[in-house]
Amino acid sequence: MSSGIVTSAYIAASILFILSLGGLSNQESARRGNLYGMIGMAIAIVATIASNNVNAYTTIIILMVIGASVGMFVAMRVEMTAMPQLVAMLHSFVGLAATLVGFASYIDHSIVLEGAEKTIHDVEIYLGILIGAVTFTGSIIAFGKLQGVIGSKPLMLPGRHLINAAIGIACIWLGSVFLGSESTADGMLPLIAMTILALIFGVHMVMAIGGADMPVVISMLNSYSGWAAAATGFMLSNDLLIVTGALVGSSGAILSYIMCRAMNRRFVSVIMGGFGTTSSSSATSEAGEYVATNIDEAAELLREASSVIIVPGYGMAVAHAQHPVSELTRILKEQDTSVRFAIHPVAGRMPGHMNVLLAEAKVPYDIVLEMDEINDDFKDTDVVIVIGANDTVNPSALDDPSSPIAGMPVLEVWNARNVIVSKRSMAVGYAGVENPLFFHDNTKMLFGDAKDSVDGLVAALAAR
Ligand code: TAP
Repeated sequence: MSSGIVTSAYIAASILFILSLGGLSNQESARRGNLYGMIGMAIAIVATIASNNVNAYTTIIILMVIGASVGMFVAMRVEMTAMPQLVAMLHSFVGLAATLVGFASYIDHSIVLEGAEKTIHDVEIYLGILIGAVTFTGSIIAFGKLQGVIGSKPLMLPGRHLINAAIGIACIWLGSVFLGSESTADGMLPLIAMTILALIFGVHMVMAIGGADMPVVISMLNSYSGWAAAATGFMLSNDLLIVTGALVGSSGAILSYIMCRAMNRRFVSVIMGGFGTTSSSSATSEAGEYVATNIDEAAELLREASSVIIVPGYGMAVAHAQHPVSELTRILKEQDTSVRFAIHPVAGRMPGHMNVLLAEAKVPYDIVLEMDEINDDFKDTDVVIVIGANDTVNPSALDDPSSPIAGMPVLEVWNARNVIVSKRSMAVGYAGVENPLFFHDNTKMLFGDAKDSVDGLVAALAAR
């Protein structure tokens, strides 16, 4: 295929990737956005394989079949609740690929460059390997934390900021040695030394970050993997990889920023780590009597309500309760009750987690509202049902400055006339913080698996 056709295909793929990102920003157009992305990627793969640069067809086809089979197997088996881990694992592959391509490009003797061109190529290699290696080990640690293989508490080495600064300075110095080296053999030593330091830095950086900040870390690593891909694009002189890497890199950075704002945290303080090491004073001061309720009482409250807001959280995903929740919504609407959903930006374990589950259960989009759109309406609401949410409805975020989640905007459900909390026990949520909401006078605890509880409410309301 001529290079002109390949370039045209790459431009078409780039446009489709941009349309895909645009589509994914809205629930109604998300399906279309996915389709654009898939078509764009298919065009990119076909054009690359058909380009004149590629000739090892057998190897490529064997590797593609292996990769696609593993990818399909994992994607079809993964639970929705384990999606963040899968994403972290996939980022680690991008990091590893960038590192390996960097080394391959450095030892490739068919690339003969002189002067400024050689320096630029070496800088691309150095940066690609640096970002790739940090992304690789950082993503593996993030995977381990989300999977529960590694404890979610931040690991704080004494003098860790000094260690990070020393690694940074060493990488800059090694970079100058690398760029000044006369031959590939001379440059290999600083390159390997920097790679080892970058691998250590990835582990050290993510180990110091607490579990509650993991969503930001995942999208930050997403951003890094994009920049690593862009650097690889420069090394290979592949325009599409540069464009795609830049799209992933910048969208990941924007998502990190949005999530930090949702948690009222500064991005730099997330990266510095340590969140979740202090314990909340509210753990003991607010603890008191809680009131347990049962299906019949809760159903009676719902029957008498004219306005209901449902607040889903991670527990709804674990219990697979989205379908009975959808059924409950239908029944309540049939009895002329206004029903809406309030979605916290970091509810669940990944951005948009709740929206995806509710869409899957065919809950109409127009009654699913973001926190900012609905937070003022709780005071005019008869009943709020909190289904498997905890941190995202914790009042201590607003009124206890010593709480680890202090300052995080939360859904102010306690302003409603009645709050029913469906969860299995009095256990804490992801951030490990006690929740004073459970002890409020207008809160009733409906203990049990969320699916069983909502099934019970549906049966009780339908029986009438
Ligand atoms: P959480 O605070 O994690 O609380 C979930 C609650 O669900 C738990 O307290 C648990 O209590 C309950 N639960 C678990 N399984 C259940 C089941 N089968 N039936 C009923 N309840 C069940 O949830 P949230 O309010 O959605 O907050 C999300 C947290 O995760 C935030 O701290 C956020 O920062 C963090 N996080 C978010 C993301 C993203 S991007 N969304 C990613 C990683 C981490 P019981 O054990 O008593 O049932």
